[in-house]
Amino acid sequence: MKYIYGNWKENNTLKDVLSYIKQFKKQKLPKNIHFGIAVPYLYLQKMNQKLSKKCEIGVQNLSFSRNGEYTGEVSAQMLCDFGCSFSLVGHSERRQKFKETNEEINQKVLSALQNGIMPILCVGETKQEKDENKTKKVLKTQLTKCLKDVSSSKNFMVAYEPVWAIGTGVTPTKDEIEANVSYIKKVLEEDIKKIGVCVLYGGSVNPQNAVELLSGKSVDGALVGGASLNAVKFVDIGKKLAS
Ligand code: PGA
Repeated sequence: MKYIYGNWKENNTLKDVLSYIKQFKKQKLPKNIHFGIAVPYLYLQKMNQKLSKKCEIGVQNLSFSRNGEYTGEVSAQMLCDFGCSFSLVGHSERRQKFKETNEEINQKVLSALQNGIMPILCVGETKQEKDENKTKKVLKTQLTKCLKDVSSSKNFMVAYEPVWAIGTGVTPTKDEIEANVSYIKKVLEEDIKKIGVCVLYGGSVNPQNAVELLSGKSVDGALVGGASLNAVKFVDIGKKLAS
């Protein structure tokens, strides 16, 4: 089974969402490919009502707190009420543009897990960190800090997303992806004692490069930004992997 998760980011109007649903429903989905889409909060309910039989629907972020004086935040419990099954956590855009720390991300992971929402923890190095040969150190720090006090390995995933590959059209080679994903699995197993966690790759994945980029034996699937905004392209990634 390969996992293909989409991340719409801050895109799509209600009109776009309705036509996406129509397009998605027309597609014949490949076997052994699990699809999921992280949508803006406002579309969670509609997408769930219309697509949940074909595709898992989740969100892109959640609050670290249960409730209280946190204006503008949405808690895991609230998301549960609307059938949210997973949430991205610690995406690099949140780390960079909203200054999220590993400690806050850890609180978000724990909050998601307590409410039965599967966190997909995003980790990855910046261009500067890569150039300074710090990738492994960065990945290990992010993993150990963000997964502190997580008890089970069954209900979360990790997405390896090199920051420099997101939205740029520039990607690592398949060997670099395999090396970093297998390193993440090694850290998960040896340092964090979590066996069998699925690890995705994300960063400029599209129907043309998906088979090559995801061909490493440790890579369990993809987290797709730009190419997930078009239902045909998104499903096509799965079709290419399945064939
Ligand atoms: P991209 O985004 O596929 O547009 O590079 C990936 C992501 O941000 O998760």
